[in-house]
Amino acid sequence: MAFKQRVFSGVQPTGNLHLGNYLGAIKRFVELQQTYDCIYCVVDMHAITVPVSVWGGPAELRRATREVTAAYIACGIDPNKHIVFNQSQVAGHAELAWVFNCVARMGWLGRMTQFKEKAGKDRENASVGLFAYPALMAADILVHRATHVPVGEDQKQHLELTRDIAQKFNNDFAESIAANGHEGGFFPLTEPIIQGPGMRIMSLRDGTKKMSKSDASDNSRINLTDDADTIAQKIRRAKTDPDALPSEEAGLEPRPEADNLVGIYAALADTTKAEVLKQFGGGQFSTFKTALADLAVAKLSPIAAEMKRLTADPAHIDAVLAGGSDRAGAIAAETMNAVKDIVGFIRH
Ligand code: TYM
Repeated sequence: MAFKQRVFSGVQPTGNLHLGNYLGAIKRFVELQQTYDCIYCVVDMHAITVPVSVWGGPAELRRATREVTAAYIACGIDPNKHIVFNQSQVAGHAELAWVFNCVARMGWLGRMTQFKEKAGKDRENASVGLFAYPALMAADILVHRATHVPVGEDQKQHLELTRDIAQKFNNDFAESIAANGHEGGFFPLTEPIIQGPGMRIMSLRDGTKKMSKSDASDNSRINLTDDADTIAQKIRRAKTDPDALPSEEAGLEPRPEADNLVGIYAALADTTKAEVLKQFGGGQFSTFKTALADLAVAKLSPIAAEMKRLTADPAHIDAVLAGGSDRAGAIAAETMNAVKDIVGFIRH
């Protein structure tokens, strides 16, 4: 069956949004609006899979949900032409996640590296939700029968699992799917969109660790709400090595910190690492860092200012989420009616 082309992606409202979230995800969400119908979600139900002390409790969850929504809009997502909403307002996500909990196998979920990392050594104490997280993520995507999902590289394994779940559902229920008039499988096998120099942004303190919300050092990341001085200072202090920048991309390979900074420049400037090295290769890091700081401030400061303006009016943000939820809810309800018929749940 030919599926309607549709983009879906999500960001968790936990901690601060950082440059990795922007370059790996949100900036690309903005670009895809030109070619696809897009649905962008603030995944508040995923946020509560870690201990309350980590996600911060109800007031913090509300604040962070509004902040991610503000970031979407400030970066250039149009909530009128496309759909912006928070996950918990559309019940179909949780409903389909339950069905997928019964389709996915323990072994599949047990292999997920994000679960292993987040659960750490004390697996017995991890929430059931953390383990089932990827089934909910598959439900997010497939309740909208999305065909394309832009994400950073760290989400690749979850997207492979989403395809496995879709495939197993299509196989397990093949007869019922055909009997209900859906030809060639009910769920699409979603294509990940993981491309460009921004797909894996690393810590500014250690080029072998990914930039993350949970890193104890604030100097390891650039937050979307950082002011110009903070951004410049973090870039100046970013770890580097004593050598000059290479002129060819191959020269970056054994140098993770240099590779990361060149990648950040390329992603911010919408160019390639090779082009950046043509301009800065052979030069000193100090010169390059000054140029990078200027570029980062020029690109990020307007976003921070717009986020500040938007978050000052929470009622407006809540209205955006309400409108988006109604529209996303209509799509999800249609999928869930079909899923219930396929599975054999009686409905009226
Ligand atoms: P989350 O909230 O951790 O991150 C949001 C997006 O930012 C990307 N990202 C990065 N990209 C490049 N470099 C980095 N250092 C970096 N850090 C984060 C992530 O890859 C992601 O695209 N499970 C998802 C949220 C989710 C979702 C979905 C995504 C839930 N349901 C359905 C897509 C479709 C997550 O935890 O993202």
